[in-house]
Amino acid sequence: MKIIVTGGAGFIGSAVIRQYINETDHEVINLDALTYAGNLESLAGVEADSRYHFEHVDIRDSEGVQRVFDRHRPDAIMHLAAESHVDRSIEGPAEFIMTNIVGTYNLLDITRRYMDTLQSEKKARFRFHHVSTDEVYGDLDATGYFTEETAYEPSSPYSASKASSDHLVRAWHRTFGLPVVVTNCSNNYGGYQFPEKLIPLVTLNALEGKPLPVYGDGKQVRDWLHVDDHARALRLVLEKGVIGETYNIGGHNEKTNLEVVRGICALLDELAPDSPGKPHAELITFVTDRPGHDVRYAIDAGKIQRELGWKPQETFDSGIRKTVQWYLDNGEWCRHVQDGSYQRERLGTIENKRAAAE
Ligand SMILES: NC(=O)c1ccc[n+]([C@@H]2O[C@H](COP(=O)([O-])OP(=O)(O)OC[C@H]3O[C@@H](n4cnc5c(N)ncnc54)[C@H](O)[C@@H]3O)[C@@H](O)[C@H]2O)c1
Repeated sequence: MKIIVTGGAGFIGSAVIRQYINETDHEVINLDALTYAGNLESLAGVEADSRYHFEHVDIRDSEGVQRVFDRHRPDAIMHLAAESHVDRSIEGPAEFIMTNIVGTYNLLDITRRYMDTLQSEKKARFRFHHVSTDEVYGDLDATGYFTEETAYEPSSPYSASKASSDHLVRAWHRTFGLPVVVTNCSNNYGGYQFPEKLIPLVTLNALEGKPLPVYGDGKQVRDWLHVDDHARALRLVLEKGVIGETYNIGGHNEKTNLEVVRGICALLDELAPDSPGKPHAELITFVTDRPGHDVRYAIDAGKIQRELGWKPQETFDSGIRKTVQWYLDNGEWCRHVQDGSYQRERLGTIENKRAAAE
């Protein structure tokens, strides 16, 4: 297959592309605008492969996207390109609306017209895979799980924009017959994640002896999944998922943010004994909570397990150990992706916004 992967220079997209090139015969077209979150260095190991192509295009640019379709005539599109950080969506929602909603609309519209040009066999095989998040469901209290039937109740501009894009994708299936599959996944972690997200941020700050910010009381629960397990699930859904269906993907690894941060500190005490921050847990600093912060996310991943036979290969203990070691081994990647405009500062508090307005 020839697969367009949008957002392929990001955290999850690059993991998907590394797997496609290293483990399959498929050809991949990475369509990415290279925002602050997109880094081609994450693809250094596969970029020389003749089955890998890069197209520097913004999904908001319909002519640019059309050119990519005309040039490569894909068999499928896996759509990951998005603005993805909740704090940034509080700081400035506009980019989220434009990329996540309008950009997704562009892709749907161009895909629909492209499909009209396909021969029946290629048309029957074509898939539009929309990659989304469990945050569209809002949050849970201490019990219960998100299933594919849970009603949408997004809390942040990020999750609302993703929810909107999910609705557009389903409408394009229902109204225009576009052959879509949708996946909603829980929090991912692993190597190559931009260091504004909890796990790389805490790891890198701890190594420099800097404070480790924990929002509110740190009791928010997330269901963590290793990015390579997510990538395997995405490949499976694209290949075997039933058209029009949604699959929830999760790791059955519920942890509070504080447990995650304490776990990283303990691992660093062991793996980086010469670090100036040791004992790292003493760097934990409780800061004002995120406005509208969701309390608990937890995924029921039973459907994808039953129907497609997927289950995660990593436990949280094995995955977090590999991940912390990855950040220890890849200091150069971490330095390069922080281009000076972002220095791991706190974003997305209402106080910040007020201060900026004054
Ligand atoms: N990270 C998670 O825990 C998680 C969990 C569930 C779902 N998701 C979803 O998976 C997808 C990928 O997430 P991620 O963590 O890899 O994100 P990321 O922020 O690491 O990467 C996003 C990528 O999209 C590109 N991009 C952004 N705007 C673009 C535009 N207008 N045109 C073209 N490219 C653009 C960026 O350059 C970057 O390469 C997103 O859709 C996100 O909502 C993420």
